[in-house]
Amino acid sequence: MSLPDLLPLDASTPVAPPLVSLRDVHLSFGITPVLSGIDLDVQRGQAVSIIGPSGSGKSTLLRCISGLLRPQRGSITVGGIRVDQLNTEEDTIALRKRIGFVFQQYNLFPHLSVLDNLVAAPVRVLGKARSEAEATAHALLKKVGLADKARAYPGQLSGGQQQRVAIARALAMEPELILFDEVTSALDPETVGEVLNVIGELVDDGLTCVLVTHEMAFARAISDEVVFTEHGVVVERGSAEQVFSSPTSDRTRAFLSRALSGHAGARPTAHAPWHAAFASATFAV
Ligand SMILES: Nc1ncnc2c1ncn2[C@@H]1O[C@H](COP(=O)(O)OP(=O)(O)OP(=O)(O)O)[C@@H](O)[C@H]1O
Ligand SMILES: [Mg+2]
Repeated sequence: MSLPDLLPLDASTPVAPPLVSLRDVHLSFGITPVLSGIDLDVQRGQAVSIIGPSGSGKSTLLRCISGLLRPQRGSITVGGIRVDQLNTEEDTIALRKRIGFVFQQYNLFPHLSVLDNLVAAPVRVLGKARSEAEATAHALLKKVGLADKARAYPGQLSGGQQQRVAIARALAMEPELILFDEVTSALDPETVGEVLNVIGELVDDGLTCVLVTHEMAFARAISDEVVFTEHGVVVERGSAEQVFSSPTSDRTRAFLSRALSGHAGARPTAHAPWHAAFASATFAV
């Protein structure tokens, strides 16, 4: 261990600002409050998982971070950009270049080959040369285990393969941040693991991401921080170990207890390595 490792942090130690920062975010649909004062920080290189019951506002939160929804109150900053104050089309496009969003439904272009799905936006939006975009696309397909599918069309792929293409497509834009919203919910159980493994590797590589997931073992295994939301507020946050092993809130405890027993919309997976991590959990209820 080097000397700097032993020195305590003090006020003179520069601390990087979070890549994502939400303060007191409120959003209602009509008279229905969905987000009721959310604070959230995500540092560069962190993986933060948001867990919570169905309808608790998780997807709404991701949509706010990506600028798809504008809160009525509070601030949202991503990489220094005030997302809640975007006014022009140009600002919105600039933000979209920096944030990748992967949804439950892969939303690939069905009429384009896998390669063209990955090349289209980097060429059109980032202005990359096609040859460069293709080289990057091939490298990304290799990374997600689909090097041999470049010429295939989405309809010729399994759900898990399509979702891995969608992840590669998001990565092709070289985003600073990727938001994953229930990316395995629509998949056959056999293909969930292959998608989770890809995301796990990206997190190991240092990808900054916010994940909404019902895959509790996965959230536990890969997250730097876990945030439990209910009724539009953050009930509890902490390290994965703390939240899963010794939740401080009775509501978190009740949710995890239901999730462990396969209710609350949470489906324990039967896929190593996440299943193994889950099975060995020392979770006291
Ligand atoms: N565009 C919309 N218009 C009106 N109400 C909406 C809209 N989008 C979401 N809601 C409502 O906001 C609440 C939160 O929805 P949201 O999709 O954020 O929940 P969630 O936590 O992602 O749930 P799930 O785990 O089921 O995906 C729900 O009551 C939902 O019906
Ligand atoms: Mg949702």
